Amino acid sequence: MATLRAGAALGLALIGLVLASLSGSCHGALQVGFYNGKCRVSDVEAIVAGVVAARFSKDPTVAPALLRMQFHDCFVTGCDASILLDGKSSEKTALPNLSVKGYDVIDSAKAAVETICPGVVSCADIIVMATRDAVSLSGGGRYRVETGRKDGLVSLASNVNLPPPSISVNDSIAAFAQKGLTVSDMVLLLGGHTIGIAHCSLFQDRLYNYQNTGKPDPTMDPSLASALRSTCPNKQTNVDNIVNLDQDPLSSSIVDNSFYKQILARRGILQIDQEIALDRQTKDIVGAIAGRLDFSTRFGEAMVKLGTLQNGAPGEIRQSCRAINTARRITMVQSVAKQLNMIVEILFGVMFMTKRKFTYGDGKNFANRRIMEN
Ligand code: HEM
Repeated sequence: MATLRAGAALGLALIGLVLASLSGSCHGALQVGFYNGKCRVSDVEAIVAGVVAARFSKDPTVAPALLRMQFHDCFVTGCDASILLDGKSSEKTALPNLSVKGYDVIDSAKAAVETICPGVVSCADIIVMATRDAVSLSGGGRYRVETGRKDGLVSLASNVNLPPPSISVNDSIAAFAQKGLTVSDMVLLLGGHTIGIAHCSLFQDRLYNYQNTGKPDPTMDPSLASALRSTCPNKQTNVDNIVNLDQDPLSSSIVDNSFYKQILARRGILQIDQEIALDRQTKDIVGAIAGRLDFSTRFGEAMVKLGTLQNGAPGEIRQSCRAINTARRITMVQSVAKQLNMIVEILFGVMFMTKRKFTYGDGKNFANRRIMEN
């Protein structure tokens, strides 16, 4: 009986061990410099910065790509790198994510840190660090990022609840509030549109048939509308051209407050961008940002806040940013299953021996049984 109890206790302990090891939470305490001293003498943030700088020197569009990636990662199930997971119905496959780029630079940064200290740095943190570096390289100043995130285990297209470009200011405020972000945070974060591009298909209605009126959006500067119509012709073609989100030609790839000046001049590209300059709930904030010189600092603070979104679900440090550590998990589960199997075999053995002791244990019974069988 004692052996049985010990066996069962051992089995339960093993199951507990597996569950515990599979379910470290994504929700960790974030701190500036989390990786200090965790990668021998190497500086994790410097390794990531080196990879981003090398890429940026060849292709500066990596900056808007990463900035958008962080928004799309953090806004959906928190900053857990769920956007990076490959799969038939993963977040990547959701419509708003089809034009997200920059996955390869995250892969390169991950490969660089894994070579030096494997299994230490999460992909979720790499997105946040790489975005900070890209913003800084684009003239946006350098903010201090918090790290210590875990990578999520789940990525579903059906979880992608990103706001569409035609969202109203009210609905956008509500969507950001649901994530704990204020109206000011929202207006500052939309300043991400100070760099990067938008495809014509996402604002075409504003140029030709705004809200089924058969006319352009009256809130758009007519000269801008006319210029955009030549880049975005009203024809059904397979080509979807692009235009800069920040229409100041001198600043369309610089992270600064010129985007706000443009939307105040009715030169916003996306409907939501234009609306925040007109709506009574947001226009004063837009005016203040356009008129001050501290956009970089305030944008950095808003990005850090965006980076705090977490969901408390189980997490891990992925080996590859594109897949959960299935192989490792299968090996672990297999080895635990093997041990459980061994325990069950021992238990059966013990039960068999115990039964045998009662039934065949003494020679007399055994002899009687043989006589009966004959
Ligand atoms: C209501 C919120 C938002 C909406 C509706 C929205 C919508 C969009 C749309 C429609 C595009 C164009 C995509 C394309 O044509 O491929 C875009 C691009 C972009 N968005 Fe947003 N966005 C929002 C918030 C944000 C935030 C908070 C950030 C960053 C902090 C951000 C950063 C960017 C960047 C950098 C691009 C350019 C991407 C590139 O050039 O690769 N957006 N956004």
